[in-house]
Amino acid sequence: LIHPVILCGGSGTRLWPVSRKAKPKPFLPLVGERSLFEATLDRCTDAARFAAPIVVAGAQHLEHITAQLGGRPGASVIMEPEAKNTAAAIALAACRLPEDAVMLVCPSDHFIADVAAFHAAAEAAARLAAEDWLVSFGITPTAPETGFGYIKRGAPLEGGFTVESFVEKPDLPRAMEFLADGGYSWNGGIFAFRAGFFRNELRAHRPDIAAGVEQAVAQGRADGAAFYPDAAAFAGFDGESVDYAVMEKTARAAMVPAAMGWSDIGNWQALRDAREGDSDGNRVQGRAELVDCRNVLAISDGPRISLIGLADVAVIVDGGEVLVTTMDGAQKVGKLTGAVQQ
Ligand code: GDD
Ligand code: MG
Repeated sequence: LIHPVILCGGSGTRLWPVSRKAKPKPFLPLVGERSLFEATLDRCTDAARFAAPIVVAGAQHLEHITAQLGGRPGASVIMEPEAKNTAAAIALAACRLPEDAVMLVCPSDHFIADVAAFHAAAEAAARLAAEDWLVSFGITPTAPETGFGYIKRGAPLEGGFTVESFVEKPDLPRAMEFLADGGYSWNGGIFAFRAGFFRNELRAHRPDIAAGVEQAVAQGRADGAAFYPDAAAFAGFDGESVDYAVMEKTARAAMVPAAMGWSDIGNWQALRDAREGDSDGNRVQGRAELVDCRNVLAISDGPRISLIGLADVAVIVDGGEVLVTTMDGAQKVGKLTGAVQQ
């Protein structure tokens, strides 16, 4: 069985004003009826394939997590004393699992349209992970995004490829070069690892994080389905993302191609693209009247939005706040005062 490890840490400020600190992106029904967190759990719920999920999250999210876990049998939660980024979050789960368990690390803020394709990729990744490969899911890149990791495909493996190089968040010139090259995939941020092998590789590349997490787990405290790592031990190292800490450095990286309708719902443009449009490409939620508009995203939790003659803009009304942005500007929403404060 594959052990799903669901990461829940980010705040999703670029989806302000809908995503707020008190109820961040993973817990909102942004595409469809289910929240991204619920949809992530749903994808990993098939009992023939998956063991019960382990959620690794900040304590401030416990209420949403408990509500949305909805009493899934066997589900457990690891409550981080503080956010130390993904290498440590994944290591916490790896230390709580048997060494030979294959874990499937799933961010809780992605949309995946084709669940059958996700399952096929998970099976292929799990087979490679059992042979001590650190496996990422490769996504065909469509733009020179600088917010993603880039994977250069190496030699074919059963169900995937070795990774010749892994470059986390390149600058724009390099991202353009990688896109033009054709030999690169985006890192989808979903990983399969054998728990014991991940711990070894972290020990090799970031012994401080590995030792701190191991100590935090050894001195931690279980309370029902929740586990609390020791805060003092967890405070004793500088965190880093798994991409920099391990994936860029390991000689055992592999990837499985995953054509599964993947989207990192990172901003309003990505959200528009993940939703189904009408014949003019508009996506409307709540009260709105659009005249001569194309590819517009309009969302309101109350007041009517009335728009004429606009293309490629997002108009979002939520909780007494109004956001109007071009799609090109959508990356910058997280810098707005409202997004920073709320
Ligand atoms: N529990 C926990 N604790 N979760 C965390 C923490 C933490 O300290 N930090 C981040 N996470 C969770 C986020 O909530 C998200 O679900 C996931 O881990 C990835 O973190 P992000 O901060 O969203 O990473 P990113 O988007 O910048 O980059 C990663 O994902 C890209 C694809 O979306 C990298 O893996 C990239 O290489 C990748 O392309
Ligand atoms: Mg992300």
